[in-house]
Amino acid sequence: MAAEELVLDEGVLEDARVCEFQGMQAVRRCGGLSVLSWRADWHKAEAYELRSVSSGSQLQDARFAQCLVHLQKSRPATWQDLGHAWAHLEPGGRLLFCGGNELGITSAVKRLAEQLGQKPQIVSNRRRARIVAFERDAGEGPLVPESDHFQVPQTTEPGFSLRADPGVFSTRRLDPGSELLLKTLADRAPAQRILDLGCGAGPLGLSALRRWPDATGLLLDGDARAVKCASDNAAALGLSARCQVEWWDIREPVPMAEFDLVLINPPFHGGKEVDLGPAHAMFEAARLALAPDGQALIVANRTLPYERSLRELGTLEILEDTRTFKVLSLQVS
Ligand SMILES: C[S@@+](CC[C@H](N)C(=O)[O-])C[C@H]1O[C@@H](n2cnc3c(N)ncnc32)[C@H](O)[C@@H]1O
Repeated sequence: MAAEELVLDEGVLEDARVCEFQGMQAVRRCGGLSVLSWRADWHKAEAYELRSVSSGSQLQDARFAQCLVHLQKSRPATWQDLGHAWAHLEPGGRLLFCGGNELGITSAVKRLAEQLGQKPQIVSNRRRARIVAFERDAGEGPLVPESDHFQVPQTTEPGFSLRADPGVFSTRRLDPGSELLLKTLADRAPAQRILDLGCGAGPLGLSALRRWPDATGLLLDGDARAVKCASDNAAALGLSARCQVEWWDIREPVPMAEFDLVLINPPFHGGKEVDLGPAHAMFEAARLALAPDGQALIVANRTLPYERSLRELGTLEILEDTRTFKVLSLQVS
C-alpha cells in the first residue's frame, strides 16, 4: 500500500519508541508496540518478533513520545484508534496520521484537524498518500464514536438487541442478507454443534443458539473488535456457557470439527475491490469442519459467482433467491 511506504521517509519518525495502530513498519524501524486488530497482521508481527496487542484498550498505562495511526476503510474504527493514540501519548508527543487518497486521507485529516483545533503539519506527501503530524496538547482529543446497537428481528426466535462496536460489520442494523439466512433456520431440524465463520457482532451464531437451547457454538472472526463484541453479546444474552468466541484468520485451521451447521455471510471486499478469495477460503474451512451429514448455509449478494466453487466441495442447493440475495446450502459427504 502506498501509504505504508511513506512511513520510513526522512523526517516522519523520531528516534523514539512508537505505538503504531494497524501497521508495523514504524515499529520495525524504531521499536515499540503495534496495535493490530486483524489476526493475519498479528501473525506477520509475530514472524518479525515484534511486540503487539490486539486492542488499544490493552495498552494499560504505557506512554509514547510518538503514535502512528493508519487510516482504515472504517472511519469509526480509525477514530477509535486515534482516541487510544491520544490517550497514550506523552504531553507534547507526536500524533502521526497516515493514509492513501483511495481511503480519503484528505477529508480524514481535515476532520481530525477540526476536532483537535490544530493545523496539521505535513511530514510526507507523495504517491497519492500522506502523513501528517499533530501535537499532543491538553485538549480533549479526537471525538471517539460510541458503540451502536442493532435489533435482530424476530425470525425464528424472539428478537433481541446486539451491541456493535465501531468498525464491526453492520453496526446500525442487521444486514438484510444475514436476516434472510436466519429465516431459513425455521425450515431445518435442530442443530447441535454450530459454527459461525466471520461472526461479526454475532447475529447468526447467537440467533441459532437462542433458537436451539441444547446447541453449542463456536464463533470465529479475524477482527479482534468483532471477537470482543460477539463475546460480550454472548455474555449479555446468557449464552457464554454454550458459546466460544475466538480470534481466527481464514488461513488457519478451524480449532474444532464435526459441526452439523455452519453459518456464513462471507466478506467479499479487499479494500474497495471485490475479492472473493476470503469467501472461498471460508467455504473450504466449512467443508473441513462439517460433520458427514452437516450443512453450511451461505448468504451472498445474488450476483456473486460462488456456485461453481461450492459445487466442487459438495452438493449445492439454492434455498432462497431474491432480487438482492441468495441463500445457498452446501452438504458434504
Ligand atoms: C459480511 S461480514 C458478516 C458478519 C456477521 N456474520 C453478520 O452476519 O453480521 C464478514 C465477517 O468476516 C470477517 N472477516 C473478514 N476477513 C476475515 C478473515 N481473513 N478471517 C476471518 N474473518 C474475516 C469480518 O471481520 C466480518 O465480521
